[in-house]
Amino acid sequence: MGLVFRRDNLEKAIAAIAAAGGSDAAEARLVAENLVTANLVGHDSHGIGMMPRYVEALLEGGLHPNRKVEVKLDGGSLLALDGGAGYGQTIGLQATRLAIQRTKQHGLCIAALGNSHHLGRIGHWAEMAVAEGLVSMHFVNVQSFARVAPFAGADRRFGTNPVCIGIPLAGEPPFVLDMATSAVAQGKLRVAHNKRAKIPHGWLIDDQGNPTDDPRWGVIAPLGAMSCFGEHKGYGLAVACELLGGALTGGGVTDYDNKTQRRVLNGMISILIDPVRLGTAGKFEKDAKSFLAWLRASRPAPGHDRVRIAGEPEREYREKREREGVPVDEETWKEIRGAAGKLRLDPGRVDALAHGR
Ligand SMILES: NC(=O)c1ccc[n+]([C@@H]2O[C@H](COP(=O)([O-])OP(=O)(O)OC[C@H]3O[C@@H](n4cnc5c(N)ncnc54)[C@H](O)[C@@H]3O)[C@@H](O)[C@H]2O)c1
Repeated sequence: MGLVFRRDNLEKAIAAIAAAGGSDAAEARLVAENLVTANLVGHDSHGIGMMPRYVEALLEGGLHPNRKVEVKLDGGSLLALDGGAGYGQTIGLQATRLAIQRTKQHGLCIAALGNSHHLGRIGHWAEMAVAEGLVSMHFVNVQSFARVAPFAGADRRFGTNPVCIGIPLAGEPPFVLDMATSAVAQGKLRVAHNKRAKIPHGWLIDDQGNPTDDPRWGVIAPLGAMSCFGEHKGYGLAVACELLGGALTGGGVTDYDNKTQRRVLNGMISILIDPVRLGTAGKFEKDAKSFLAWLRASRPAPGHDRVRIAGEPEREYREKREREGVPVDEETWKEIRGAAGKLRLDPGRVDALAHGR
């Protein structure tokens, strides 16, 4: 049995928790909107289920409310930014707005952001740039507990390091490839574990390095590890994320800091391009259209209804969940109520807000 909430009510409930954690009203709303949007588009792993972890990070002093992005270097189209371990929902927004503005000015911007707390669904940032007609590429590392094994390794060495590429398309919604380089996002293991579900082989290895279908190895056990997608290829991309999003941004590479066990820091290098300024916009539009028509003419393989492009599944989820509400499993809701309690916010108040009372 699960619960179903309307998005606006859920946002009010989550915003109340963020506010109880010290965020001003604007930040509390941003955190809530960002997390609920992840649920809306089907990424429950990056939705409101993150709030209990954020609260633990706050209480440990690893996450700081109301921080602003600091510009460490301003080279016009080249920016070095520091997030000060502030909420990724604030820092990511400020960094992306700045990168968009510079791309409009110069045709291109490379923004190196280090030391942001969890940036959530990376597609969120690509979608902002794409909405302005810009191409937006992101390589991200994760500083937290190592969770993923290198190809040919049997223990945890780095995070789920996501990659995202957003491309605006004329006359239709954009292409937004937004993915963890692990075979699955870590939060999906938490969701499977909370639902007591088995997972496909290929996502995790146990403490001996053997494939397993038990999500426990990715959630609570100190041993075991997640696998990269696509064997050595996904692994290579994950290392590139660590080197670009972590080392090159100055934010730092994966390391486990004993002082702040629950915080999640992200480093992100963003590369934005204005196709109009590149001078190829007309051809880009025409060729993208004809290629997509060609792609979609592919006969559906057995078990599939049609060919989609990246970004479409999220839009389908959003349409359904805006209409029918956002499902939340009972374990996740219990954790959210518990998080409110830790901040001395009455969990009954969170229930009432989520139910629109
Ligand atoms: N902030 C962090 O530290 C962090 C770390 C890891 C992942 N994440 C986020 O986790 C989220 C989930 O990642 P994931 O790897 O589980 O995503 P996923 O596997 O659900 O989807 C990956 C991509 O594949 C596309 N896709 C899915 N089905 C498709 C189909 N049938 N046809 C064509 N394209 C299709 C999606 O649109 C998406 O772009 C992402 O938003 C990512 O940014 C964040």
